[in-house]
Amino acid sequence: METICGWQWSDYDILSSTNDKAKDMSKNASAERFVVTAKQQTKGRGRRGRQWISREGNLFMSLALPLPIAKAGELIFVVSLALLETIRQMKPNIDINLKWPNDVLVNGGKISGILLEKAEGEYIIIGIGVNIVASPKLDGNLLYQAQSLSDAGVAADRISFMKAYLLQFNRNFSLWQEEGFAPLQEQWLKNACRLNETIQVRTEKNVREGIFRGVDDQGMLLLEEQGIINKIYAGDVFF
Ligand code: BTN
Repeated sequence: METICGWQWSDYDILSSTNDKAKDMSKNASAERFVVTAKQQTKGRGRRGRQWISREGNLFMSLALPLPIAKAGELIFVVSLALLETIRQMKPNIDINLKWPNDVLVNGGKISGILLEKAEGEYIIIGIGVNIVASPKLDGNLLYQAQSLSDAGVAADRISFMKAYLLQFNRNFSLWQEEGFAPLQEQWLKNACRLNETIQVRTEKNVREGIFRGVDDQGMLLLEEQGIINKIYAGDVFF
């Protein structure tokens, strides 16, 4: 085991899911912050019960840190903004932006996925998948067009990306702890795509269409429908 940027790091050849391993480890964690990675995942999972196709060479990592689950709504913004910033540091003129609640889009395609889960001992597990070398093709199983860093001309491997990401995450996390959600919300909105434009949101109950008016101070999506601004807690956004 190694410590990187204050995180105790364990790398495995193969795991069912790095989130499961991190959850397991949080039962008797010896470090306050730890990160688990794997070269391969056999049962990578995504949001809302979906599968996360895990191609070798891509990054599968789970960060574990002690935080009450009530903070998850804000934490998503800390995590996704740090992903955007890490990629932009590697290629400053890249076409990159953010889509609510937690997607990072490069050239309009999804480059990464984030899955927050609760574990024991007040730990939150932040599962992050980054398409470093390969992206799955859009078919019936995929909701969005995917992209990879290698297709976008960003030279990184899974380990160099993880190290750069942990550094950036630490910076954003400290900003959040010291100054609250507002500066992160502002930065997130600066990089959000389709702000003040028409979007569709697929929730568990229905599909809604309206104008994307930003996010509130808890990270909920603000959707203007027939002149009224409604808040949406969970859903998938389409353009
Ligand atoms: C999404 O649906 O967009 C979220 C995908 C999250 C995938 C990552 S890969 C590492 C970690 N382990 C998992 O099983 N899922 C997350």
